[in-house]
Amino acid sequence: MKTSMHIAVLGANGRTGSHVVQQALERGYAVTAVVRDVLSMQNIQHECLKVHPANILDSAALVSCLKGVDAVVSCVGTKGFGQYLPWSSVSIYSEATKSVLGAMRESGVNRYVCMAGTCLKYGPGQPKIITHVFKPLFGGIAKDMSRMEDILTAEENSDINFTVVKPNALKEAPITEGEVFAAEGQWCDGCIISRPDVARFILDSLTTNQWDRKLVAIKTEQDQNVNESKQKKVPM
Ligand SMILES: NC(=O)c1ccc[n+]([C@@H]2O[C@H](COP(=O)([O-])OP(=O)(O)OC[C@H]3O[C@@H](n4cnc5c(N)ncnc54)[C@H](OP(=O)(O)O)[C@@H]3O)[C@@H](O)[C@H]2O)c1
Repeated sequence: MKTSMHIAVLGANGRTGSHVVQQALERGYAVTAVVRDVLSMQNIQHECLKVHPANILDSAALVSCLKGVDAVVSCVGTKGFGQYLPWSSVSIYSEATKSVLGAMRESGVNRYVCMAGTCLKYGPGQPKIITHVFKPLFGGIAKDMSRMEDILTAEENSDINFTVVKPNALKEAPITEGEVFAAEGQWCDGCIISRPDVARFILDSLTTNQWDRKLVAIKTEQDQNVNESKQKKVPM
């Protein structure tokens, strides 16, 4: 496993992507930030940072950004309340995945980490209310994240070493020092995690093969403590 690397960050000017960029630079990595608007990155200057303009739906434009990188991290997402409506039609997650995988193959890169939400499909141990009641309320976004996961786990894409990092909900808060807990699958009892902690987990996942080709639900130590104290209160 490499200790220093060159990563491309898609959605680098976003609220999680910007933390990935910052923390990667702090770790001594070289970073290629891929954004639609290069001016949106002008507040970060670093000798190891290159900013590359591209729409990630344009696979051909991505190829030149990805040449020579060790891994691609995508924190791309959709914006606007309308996208959350149950009848909304969202395709950025699935279409971007097809575009990025194509560009990765062209560039000879095979490590990919991206983000999705939890409980996109029902699985054992998962709160039914989240999958069957809350997630449908997120309409097009949840459906398209699920399509993205289907693409990544499809046999035809078995050459791509992906990790889908799945926080339950995100908040603007400082990085914490505690462990970020992770479990393979759609759910791990998580609550709201700070974006810098998600960025920390994303970068950590590039330094281990533990989460290779996995969907990984994540939570923080705070969630873990709350859940343990709830369990202690249950009478035997
Ligand atoms: N909010 C939650 O509670 C929650 C929970 C679980 C997972 N997630 C997921 O976590 C991820 C990160 O969330 P966030 O809140 O940090 O995201 P965010 O701040 O909304 O950033 C989204 C990024 O995607 C970029 N983007 C969108 N379409 C693009 C395109 N066609 N080409 C290039 N860049 C494009 C945006 O760039 P522009 O500035 O050019 O638009 C922006 O940098 C998202 O996938 C989100 O769905 C969110």
